[in-house]
Order: sequence, then C-alpha cells, then structure tokens
Amino acid sequence: MVIPSHTQVAIIGAGPSGLLLGSLLAREGIDAVILEQRTPDYVLGRIRAGVLEQTTVELLERAGVADRLHREGLPHEGFDLCFGGARHRIDLKRLTRGKQVVVYGQTEVTRDLMDHRQGLGLPTVYEAEQVSLHGFDGTKPVVRYMHQGQPRELSCDFIAGCDGFHGASRASVPASALTQHERVYPFGWLGVLSRTPPVAHELIYSNHERGFALCSMRSHNLSRYYVQCSLQDQVEQWSDEAFWDELRVRLDPAAAQALVTGPSIEKSIAPLRSFVTEPMRFGRLFLAGDAAHIVPPTGAKGLNLAASDVHYLSSALIEHYRQGSDHGIEHYSARCLARVWKASRFSWWFTSLMHRFPQSELSGGAMGYRLQQAELEYLAQSEAAQTVMAENYVGLPF
Ligand code: APR
Ligand code: PHB
Repeated sequence: MVIPSHTQVAIIGAGPSGLLLGSLLAREGIDAVILEQRTPDYVLGRIRAGVLEQTTVELLERAGVADRLHREGLPHEGFDLCFGGARHRIDLKRLTRGKQVVVYGQTEVTRDLMDHRQGLGLPTVYEAEQVSLHGFDGTKPVVRYMHQGQPRELSCDFIAGCDGFHGASRASVPASALTQHERVYPFGWLGVLSRTPPVAHELIYSNHERGFALCSMRSHNLSRYYVQCSLQDQVEQWSDEAFWDELRVRLDPAAAQALVTGPSIEKSIAPLRSFVTEPMRFGRLFLAGDAAHIVPPTGAKGLNLAASDVHYLSSALIEHYRQGSDHGIEHYSARCLARVWKASRFSWWFTSLMHRFPQSELSGGAMGYRLQQAELEYLAQSEAAQTVMAENYVGLPF
C-alpha cells in the first residue's frame, strides 16, 4: 500500500469510533486515512462490552457492515434485575413500545469494520508510532508520525481524534482550552469469558450484599460474567473456582443452580470511571468516543456513545463537503455532549444502584445498601420507574 501524504480527514485510532467514521465517510466519497499505533491483532484482542442499541445497529447498517451482526447477534427484549434473592424482569420491548437491544461483542463489530475497510482497499496505517497533531487551530492541519523507522507526514482538512482515553489527540489540546470532569469509582469489575452456555437467555444484573454481579454472553455457547471486586485485587489471586463461587453466591438460587462453569478463556480486572471532556472540538480537531468520554460499564453505553459521536461527526463532515455548510461542524460538540451527559448520568445512576460502596459514601455501608433495596423494590413495582430505566437502557434518540 502506498501511504498517502494528503487526505481530507485524518483519523487517529482504529477502534470502533475511527473505523466506523472511516466507513461512513467512504460511502460519501470522502477520503480518510486511519493511523493506528497497534497491530490489528492487538486491537482485536481487547474484550469489551457487547450490547448494541438499535440506533447503533442502524448506523452499522448504513455503513454496510451489519450482515454478520444480523446473522449472529442476539436480539434481547428485556433483562433481569436480581436483588433480595429474586429476579425481576425489565421488559424493554413493552416499556419502550417495540425497542430492543442486540448482544454482539465489540470485538466482532471491530472485526467486521476492519474486514470491510480492507475489502474496499481503504488506507489504514497500523503501527504508526509517535503520532503528533499540528495546526488544527488553523486551516492546514498536519499529523506527523513514525512508520517502520521513517518519519512521515499526513496533511489534511480535518483531524478526527478517535484514539481512546490514553490517545494523543486530547493530549495535544492546550489544557487551558479543556474542562475535564472525572470520578473514579472505589471498586473494579473482575470479568471472565468462558466457553459455556449462558446461565439465562437474558442478562442478569445483580445487587448483592457482597457486591454487584453481571451475567452476560457473546453467543449461545460463550458467556461473559463479572463480579465487583476490590481495586487492590490482582487477577492472579482469583482462581476460576474462586470466581465461580463468588458469582454463584451473588445470584438468586435458581440462577446459582443453573450456572454452568468451565475454564476461563480470559480473565481481567477493569477499573470504573466517569469522565467527560468539554468541548469536543478545537478548530479542525474533533474528539470522538473514548478520547472524549468514559462511562462505567454498567448499562454498556461506551460503544453506543462512540457510535452517536460518529453519527454527528460524519453528518457534519458530509454537510461540509457536500453542501458547503459548516453548521454541523459548529454544533458538533454541543450535539454530542447533550447525549453524552444523559448517558453518563444513566451509567452513574445504574452503577450507584447496583454496587456496594464504602461506608464513607452516602450510597455506602448498611444505610446505602438499605436505600438501594428500597429503590430496587420501587423499580420492581412501578411501571413509571421501569419505563425510565428501559428508555435509557435501549438508548435515547440521536
Ligand atoms: N496514535 C494512534 N493510535 C492510538 C493512539 C495514538 N497515540 N493512542 C491510542 N490509539 C488507538 C488505540 O490503540 C485504539 O485502537 O486508538 C484506538 C482507540 O480505540 P478504543 O479505545 O476502542 O476507543 P473508541 O474507538 O473510541 O471506542 C470506544 O471502546 O472502551 C470502549 O466502552 C468503550 O465501547 C467503547 C469503545
Ligand atoms: C458485557 O457483555 O460485557 C456487558 C454487558 C452489559 C453491560 C456491561 C458489559 O452492562
């Protein structure tokens, strides 16, 4: 592949945000080059959440990458909340007048986007090192990087910073131009992937005195489970047996009995964080996805928020190149942030409702636990409360 030295949109990062943006722009004949610091295998090795909102599915359809998702994805019309030793179903479909979500791993979404891009012969530079961004406050932005030991330059009209939480894009903006909001939660999630049938057809979110647990899946024979753990825990301290024992204790008796265990294929601990950067555009640099915001995984909003940013960004760039209007560019940040804050609020609320917090916090200790039980009982009884939850879970409109 001859690596171009000029493009219309330089995309930093080949995660779901960068790849989806690349596909949506390609459909409109807008050129883009993606610069990714890792290898394709490394990018595909990351295991993340797997619940797609209907609007995310529609965007993947529009990008032309939804065939396998339709074949292999699992439509879910509800999920269970488990507390006090019993499960209570949240009927998403009924409560939202027909909406549902699709369980399909982020890794698979990324793989489909990568294959599609490769099939179209669109340029992606993997192992692009020392990526640095220049001139985005003017009219001629440039991205410099090293590739196979050679210095390279990519000039462009716009830069899309899709390089995740630790990327170079947000870090290139002067600190005085940014407001960053952050909360780190006082616990982590220990996750296990196992080649076993899921314990139930739908997801189970459990609030237990010993901490949160989640039963999820990737397919009919691949399960994904999580238990809340201490941030001090090391993954090596958790044998498979200890994990299964802890998960079983945190479920209702019927689920505990039905649980099929097996060797873990993957086991990792992830911290939980809420983070929002404002604004999300600086001149000709746009931030999208995890580069701009992080939500705790309770409710699986991360990938869906990345998709909505990309929807606003691709529309703005298409409007610029096709209609000569910068209206979408000027409103990009405000449009994204309106949705980002609502999803951040929901993820924070769902996290607060389901996890055991330390005594020192209002939602912690024995009193916090009793308050959670009261709210969960209210949810189980109130159609209005369930509707609020369902509407947010299936995803707010763009
Ligand atoms: N230069 C080039 N590429 C970089 C750099 C850099 N300096 N820093 C990071 N990257 C790459 C990473 O290697 C990664 O492949 O940018 C990509 C960012 O991808 P993600 O972290 O997956 O972020 P995003 O595409 O926004 O996807 C958001 O990921 O964490 C989940 O819940 C989140 O599902 C959501 C999704
Ligand atoms: C997952 O399957 O990894 C998953 C599902 C739902 C969540 C979080 C993670 O809320």
